Amino acid sequence: MKEIKIAASATLYKDINELPTEDKMLMHKAVEAREKAYAPYSKFHVGAALLLENGEIVLGNNQENAAYPSGLCAERVAVFYAGATYPGVKIMKLAISASSTTTKVDKPIGPCGACRQSLSEYEIKQKQPFPLIFMGEVGEVVKTASLLSLLPFSFDSSYL
Ligand code: THU
Repeated sequence: MKEIKIAASATLYKDINELPTEDKMLMHKAVEAREKAYAPYSKFHVGAALLLENGEIVLGNNQENAAYPSGLCAERVAVFYAGATYPGVKIMKLAISASSTTTKVDKPIGPCGACRQSLSEYEIKQKQPFPLIFMGEVGEVVKTASLLSLLPFSFDSSYL
């Protein structure tokens, strides 16, 4: 028996204004997307913006449903739209922002486990890691170098 270490590192920015120019621009797009979220049940609004290799920016936001599990998270709306519209075009980075109409979201909100799994498929497929940049409505912003760094021991096609 031996212990192994699982390490993830990230960069923490004090707010959106501290981000490098391109990241800041993409985060503003995520905020734009967030403002159009359809979240009448949770009141929790999430926006995602993907920058693609061809320069296109693909947006997504959470789409809820009266039958709760039938809705979908912002990140998956964005990545599935990108996969459907620009198949084979690499993802360069992903920005995510979350807010709520009932509380001020002042902590960085990382993607849920199901979104991490969905996103991992694309990172593996393109053989190139893409950074994730995420925040709440205000406050600190986290930037990770890759999706897979947030998903140790992930499930992939090699197990099939
Ligand atoms: N949500 C996202 O859009 N992305 C996540 O990564 C976590 C949660 C959405 C789903 C639901 O509409 C609302 O936030 C509350 O869970």
